Amino acid sequence: MRYSALTTRIAGEGSDAWVVHDLAIARRDAGEDIIVLSLGDPDFETPQFIRDAAVRSLGNGRTHYSLMGGEPHFRQAIAEYTSRTTGLVIDAAQVTVFPGAQAALFAVAQCLFNPGDEVIVAEPAYVTYEALLSAPGAHMVQIPLRPENRFHIEPDVLARAITPRTRAVLLNFPHNPTGACITAGEAAAVAALCKEHDLWFISDEVYAALGFGTPHLSPLSQPGMMERGVMISSLSKSHAMTGWRCGWAITPTEMAQHLRYLVRASLFGVAQFIQDAGAVAIGSHSDDLEQIRASYQRRAQTVVDALDGVPGVSARMPDAGMYVFADIRGTGLDGKQFARALLDAEGVSVTPGEGFGPSGAGHVRITLATSEERLREACARVARFAAMID
Ligand SMILES: Cc1ncc(COP(=O)(O)O)c(C=O)c1O
Repeated sequence: MRYSALTTRIAGEGSDAWVVHDLAIARRDAGEDIIVLSLGDPDFETPQFIRDAAVRSLGNGRTHYSLMGGEPHFRQAIAEYTSRTTGLVIDAAQVTVFPGAQAALFAVAQCLFNPGDEVIVAEPAYVTYEALLSAPGAHMVQIPLRPENRFHIEPDVLARAITPRTRAVLLNFPHNPTGACITAGEAAAVAALCKEHDLWFISDEVYAALGFGTPHLSPLSQPGMMERGVMISSLSKSHAMTGWRCGWAITPTEMAQHLRYLVRASLFGVAQFIQDAGAVAIGSHSDDLEQIRASYQRRAQTVVDALDGVPGVSARMPDAGMYVFADIRGTGLDGKQFARALLDAEGVSVTPGEGFGPSGAGHVRITLATSEERLREACARVARFAAMID
């Protein structure tokens, strides 16, 4: 039987990032002592007050079809939260609710791009971008975030990548996998380029609430950017809610209407009780949420300290997020070789930097979704492994 061309375009993307992880899970499930640091899923339980809210909502019979763009009270809560945290003035009419940031990104790409359009993405990059941009036939044009520049965006490099076919720039700060943030100067330069070339700007901000000191800066808070801007976020990382599938896109109001049609044609809404719990989650200043953020910061510091002095390995404190992106070039191995051999020798799985793009070469991503004690144990194993190959 025949399949559409789309199935070929979206297949197999980012597989380099998953090989070691899949092996690690198989070995762990077979009973081996494997420390899995290769998946961005928080180890925390969703805070109790959010689970309670969902249960209450279920008890109240909130189990029916929801409005296509999202329930009004949740959209309002998202608009208020975003206005408070970014300084932008966001109206609920600009918000469309999706089952996670991933679905929001997919829908946005469907609404904005035609076959042959170019979208500039800074790599290393979150592995699903290529597939979701390929779905409508767009072409992902990669620009490097260089380790020598601490994986910060270089506006002159971005400027050189713009062609008459460029339709948008898609950036993700705080950044997965490197933990870098964007500075005000960089954001202003990127904004100027988007305006000069009349480009859409898609800002994936799923790690915005997990900052380690530097206040989060949305590139969309630059003057005039929301007219051409799409902000993507979710409760997955900040609220330990990956499995709930609760995210959103904030766009110009006209685009929100297009997104609603797309939701109607595909998802047909997000469960009411999830949105009710989401509204409670996003409207609260609970200590639980601060504990999640602070834990990632402590864990990042633990890993950076524990890797200090390990031959061939160096790790910098990230600005935000739930990953440490360790430089292993000094070992003489590339990221794929290092990750594979580390799993074989010591039973620790990390993600090869090459899986996120060429500029991630010679690095590995260490996910911080494990206790400090376990992370210390993992780093001790890394040290033993590095000493062996030294
Ligand atoms: C940069 C980035 N964007 C989007 C997502 C998807 O998040 P969600 O669970 O909200 O779909 C992830 C998940 O790892 C991510 O790292």
